[in-house]
Amino acid sequence: MRYGHFDDERREYVITRPDTPLPWINYLGNEAYFGIISNTAGGYSFYRDARLRRLTRYRYNNAPLDLGGRYVYLRDDESGEYWSPSWQPTQRELDDYSCRHGLGYSIIGSTYKGIRGETLYFVPLAENLEVWRIRVTNARTTPARISLFDSIEFCLWEALEDNTNFQRNYSTGQVEVEDGVIYHKTEYRERRDHFAFFACSAPLAGFDTQREDFLGPYRGWDRPIVVERGAATDSVAHGWQPMGSHHVKLELAPGETKEVIVLLGYQENPKDDKFDPPGSQTINKKRVKPVIARYLQPAVVERVFTDLRDYWTGLLGILQVHTGSEHVDRMVNIWNAYQCMVTFNMSRSASGFESGIGRGMGFRDSNQDLLGFVHMVPARARERILDIAATQLPTGGAYHQYQPLTKRGNNDVGGGFNDDPAWLVLGVAAYLKETGDASILEEPVPYDNQPGTETPLYEHLRRSIQYTLDRLGPHGLPLIGRADWNDCLNLNCFSETPGESFQTTENKEGGVAESVFIGGLFVLAANEMAAVAERRGDAAEAALAADAAAAMTKAVETAGWDGDWFRRAYDYFGRVVGSKECAEGQIFIEPQGMCIVAGIGLENGMAEKALASVRERLATPHGIVLNNPAFTYYHLELGEISTYPQGYKENAGIFCHTNPWVMIAEAMADHPEAALDYYMRINPSVREEISEVHRCEPYVYAQMIAGKDAPTHGEAKNSWLSGTAAWNFVAISQWILGIRAEHDGLRIDPVLPADWGGFKVSRWFRGAKYEITVHKSTGVTGRVARLTVGGREISGNLVPLPTGPDESFDVEAFVG
Ligand code: BGC
Ligand code: NOJ
Repeated sequence: MRYGHFDDERREYVITRPDTPLPWINYLGNEAYFGIISNTAGGYSFYRDARLRRLTRYRYNNAPLDLGGRYVYLRDDESGEYWSPSWQPTQRELDDYSCRHGLGYSIIGSTYKGIRGETLYFVPLAENLEVWRIRVTNARTTPARISLFDSIEFCLWEALEDNTNFQRNYSTGQVEVEDGVIYHKTEYRERRDHFAFFACSAPLAGFDTQREDFLGPYRGWDRPIVVERGAATDSVAHGWQPMGSHHVKLELAPGETKEVIVLLGYQENPKDDKFDPPGSQTINKKRVKPVIARYLQPAVVERVFTDLRDYWTGLLGILQVHTGSEHVDRMVNIWNAYQCMVTFNMSRSASGFESGIGRGMGFRDSNQDLLGFVHMVPARARERILDIAATQLPTGGAYHQYQPLTKRGNNDVGGGFNDDPAWLVLGVAAYLKETGDASILEEPVPYDNQPGTETPLYEHLRRSIQYTLDRLGPHGLPLIGRADWNDCLNLNCFSETPGESFQTTENKEGGVAESVFIGGLFVLAANEMAAVAERRGDAAEAALAADAAAAMTKAVETAGWDGDWFRRAYDYFGRVVGSKECAEGQIFIEPQGMCIVAGIGLENGMAEKALASVRERLATPHGIVLNNPAFTYYHLELGEISTYPQGYKENAGIFCHTNPWVMIAEAMADHPEAALDYYMRINPSVREEISEVHRCEPYVYAQMIAGKDAPTHGEAKNSWLSGTAAWNFVAISQWILGIRAEHDGLRIDPVLPADWGGFKVSRWFRGAKYEITVHKSTGVTGRVARLTVGGREISGNLVPLPTGPDESFDVEAFVG
């Protein structure tokens, strides 16, 4: 069952009924001012940091789930009837409804008794405000008198404090209202230099800034007393819950449309120029007033909205594929690329499942996200790499997270996740291959943000590799530390205290427990390092890394091999994890994927066996589960993984982040059918038709789909902010379609099923444009046998680097 459809032409998903199984959200903002918005206008906004600069209030895990947002109410002043064009919060049954989630904007609208209300929400590029462009149309044959109310609830800036410290909060709220603009200035008198504004383009009939006056005692957002009566109270908030609402009266002739622009924004003032007149306690508005005046003009709004659309056309234009499969094309060309940009902006901070209060930027997460967006925003990827590397420790180890505002390592979460350093090597390698910008390796970067400790970035990579070599266990495999990619495989933790964090507790000497997964990851990273070192003329490091990769491959093929698949780990007691010998958790997906991605077992039959075992033991119609059998008991020695009920999250859930590793492995092992089949199983666009089962948005990946052991097999959770976005993008575009940036050129190496024909790709790479046609007849399999660039035949399948700027090339590749 579907709740809408894709509009690929406009790059939108169109939701046609409001009662989606979960709120289906979208993101507003590109640089500093952001918001999340659901299909019924729920959500909130923040400046840079969803915890420390929260503009509007939102209560997670509410009933209904999604309550609080950017609500508009319309009231028919003849009949007194009122409703919300976004359905929520009044839930009036509407004559029609649609929500168009686009790239960086949403348009939500409906018709009720001949009155159409539609709002476009977006954040103009490089501005710290959001625009609501509201259009009200009278489709009746008689004139209409309509009252319009907008509304938001201000958050008292620090989202955690806002949710918890009521003895203080109920007394601190303050606003100013001037010329119909509502200014939220809680704590501005003292240590804050920022305030929020809520402005409206139309003359006001009134306003409200005190929630209780707007809603009325004991009432909710579904029936505000002010809307019911059709009259604002001009309330001025003192303490309690400051909010903003403007009341506008519209007279509409038959067929007439009127437009009202509403702005919600964030503004900072210099510390010594906060007040006007100086010495008063009144906000100095001289900087913000011109901004407000500018964006209240319809022509400006129209123009900056076009700019936003052009911005996305530019970013997405870097890679466009035309395969004939709508599921592949719309994900690669639109939604998966968009999701990668959202993970770049948000990391794991704010979504329907991440409260904006919890996690900072993951060291591992941020490096992996980079794989999905480096081709679109290489300059910002460069900056991101340098930020991440600056939090690295002198040992080569890493804080597991760092804070976006301070860019410093987060002590509360600490380090010791022994896979972290290897991801830095992979992130940097991806950047180098995409851009060829070797200068990044020479950038001086400190350790632990300590001035004076700078070394070239290259040395950080060297230490990343050395970090693993300094921490090998009894089988020559990497010690796991607190955990590896699987944050819930906590082999040195042994937690018996309720509420204790599995991620930060390491109460056993960590000298025995080893990870086969890190073994595979290390081989991949060390080989990348060898290539980087060689190009830099550092033969010694190149040899060291290559030798280390070879030795690790051996260790994985011996101690890491279980006969039919790769083992997962050795625990604190040196007992094997992920083996036939185990009662539960005999086989895990991560090492099957990662070891083969690193090239292990491709020559000696291990990869074939491991992939067959995945198919037999782990694959389901909804994707590949993480482990099998699921853990049914709490295993003190394994940690959080065994705390989840069977089939959820790391305990045998379909952890979508890991599935693309298997897709890539299948492609590398020359199994195109299997690779694409796994891709289609978790592809959100394919799953659109089972939206009642999948339940999350059909346009983006979710972190997890419930596995075969769960009662809700096939149900997705934790959409949007996951390494799933980057890795699926890599799997389909670089390994199945096979268009891969490399140090020396653009590889054209598709691995396609027999029933596929050829396809076309346009790709900007190192400043040149490549129009690529892959010729393939259905029925044919195999790799590229012949390649021409600009009509000239080239041996192999690597398109050489361009020699000058602005070149463009026609590339023809023939499969079979
Ligand atoms: C989740 C993991 C997550 C970890 C760290 C765990 O509860 O299951 O997916 O990575 O927390 O935040
Ligand atoms: C979510 C985390 O963000 C990611 O880093 C981790 O690898 C997975 N959970 C698996 O535990």
